[in-house]
Amino acid sequence: MATVSSANPTVLVVDFGAQYGQLIARRVRDLGVYSEIVPCDMTAQEMAALHPVAIILSGGPASVYAEDAPSLDPGVLELGVPVLGFCYGQQIMAKVLGGTVGHTDKGEYGPVEITRVDGRCGQLIVDELRREHFAVDEPPVGETSLLLGETPCQQVVWMSHRDAVIQVPDGFAITSFTDGCPVASMECTDRRLYATQFHPEVRHTPYGQQMLSNFLFDICGLERTWTMDSIIQDSVEAIREQVGDSRVILGLSGGVDSSVVAALCSKAIGDQLTCVFVNHGLLRKGEPEEVEEVFTKQFDVDFVHVHAEERYAELLAGVTDPEQKRRIIGTQFWNEFFAVAEDLVEDGRPVKYLAQGTIYPDIIESGARKTGGKASTIKSHHNLIPFPDGVHFDLIEPLDHFFKDEVRALGTALGLPDHIVHRQPFPGPGLAIRIIGDVTPEKLEILKNADAIVREELDAYNQEQFEACGERPVWQYFAVLPDVRSVGVMGDERTYQRPIILRAVESSDAMTADWAKLPYEVLARVSSRIVAEVPGINRVAYDITSKPPATIEWE
Ligand code: XMP
Repeated sequence: MATVSSANPTVLVVDFGAQYGQLIARRVRDLGVYSEIVPCDMTAQEMAALHPVAIILSGGPASVYAEDAPSLDPGVLELGVPVLGFCYGQQIMAKVLGGTVGHTDKGEYGPVEITRVDGRCGQLIVDELRREHFAVDEPPVGETSLLLGETPCQQVVWMSHRDAVIQVPDGFAITSFTDGCPVASMECTDRRLYATQFHPEVRHTPYGQQMLSNFLFDICGLERTWTMDSIIQDSVEAIREQVGDSRVILGLSGGVDSSVVAALCSKAIGDQLTCVFVNHGLLRKGEPEEVEEVFTKQFDVDFVHVHAEERYAELLAGVTDPEQKRRIIGTQFWNEFFAVAEDLVEDGRPVKYLAQGTIYPDIIESGARKTGGKASTIKSHHNLIPFPDGVHFDLIEPLDHFFKDEVRALGTALGLPDHIVHRQPFPGPGLAIRIIGDVTPEKLEILKNADAIVREELDAYNQEQFEACGERPVWQYFAVLPDVRSVGVMGDERTYQRPIILRAVESSDAMTADWAKLPYEVLARVSSRIVAEVPGINRVAYDITSKPPATIEWE
């Protein structure tokens, strides 16, 4: 496994099943510090072996006193590195160190105002309030919170809890509270242990990023070492070390992940990398040419453009079932790919490694890094690759430490053009699953032309919105060609032609999506251009279904 972490001071995020676990690691990385997620059943000794410079305990859905509640090896709090806990992380820290956690009268969900407990906020008033609300006779003496730093005495934070710390462990000071939560945050500066009941990692806690920054830079004394330059340098060295003078093969799809792997490997090992671009004829208009241009002119790789358009057309002829189409396309990809690998062997250049664009969320979600980077990182889906008998590759996954937005930033830093780096998601089976019914050259031509217009108009709309308000509202947009015809009239003539369906959705992760509320002018322009410019189309319809119940693609 290529690893970049060893060179960087690492903050471990211990995952207690948090909804926001990945978010914590991302926020830390946003601040220029490398962070990795580890499971909560990892022992203190295993964590120590990873040489963390700090540890963050995430939230989680359980109650610390539940029978099967995830626990924490108490040794983690004795490692001598600063520890910060959020929500469940605060509760487990309190429990392990002898404090008390209990049910509050009513939970707090959403924005809540905290009051800081320190000299600047009037200790007496605060003590009174706490006595009144929580019947605590002798509240611990408050002091200036290192974690809250220069943030306001009263501020809104994001809460999501029913349980709360009722009694802090010995040596801890309460540093903030709310009307419903006696210990909204606590700390023991001598042991460098800090915790909050609220979630500083979410944007709804306006000073959350500042608190994280206070923790990383003031409390832990870290520096911003996770920068694009250091990432590229470390990745390149790791690839060189792993690969030596062996040969690497990569299936290049034109998508952002495989393109960034290609650019990175090109920088590391140059033409020891063979990129296999299987052109199934189902890509969008202009795409094969763009991919070839980038990886033959800009990067020093051995680029093999496999013209498989005719073979795919034959295999798909008359096939109407969506699943069968997908199977044919996927299987044929590997046939084409292995044929290139065999050619390389015959050419005296045998391939040892298969490079893949696996990214960090894939690794976390597959649970592959259960032992903190030492376990196999081979994901279950890799085993689904139908390697022919006797064929074996070792895997190289240079993006397996990166989140998607880091992959894009890496692509830009490596000089990949914007149209690749910001390419919207595109399914592996390509336009075949946007042509309902059988795929023919005529239908493909129609769809490519209509889709090019959709992309041109919506790229422009997204860009306009980005310039006006900093966001590209439409997440994915494309044309679909259904298997029906309808009557129309063009000039003075009756037509009996196909419609195009426009699909445009807002989403963040494709798990759910809503149809985009496009302005009428944009819809009108797309419609009139398609009907005027694409022969064979006499009607345009807009799909206004969300996911669920529909899916984003039509097949
Ligand atoms: P659905 O249609 O399931 O799609 O809502 C969700 C997201 O996944 C993309 N998609 C695919 N991506 N191979 C891929 O790499 C595929 O076979 C595939 N099928 C759907 C789709 O474009 C959407 O972004």
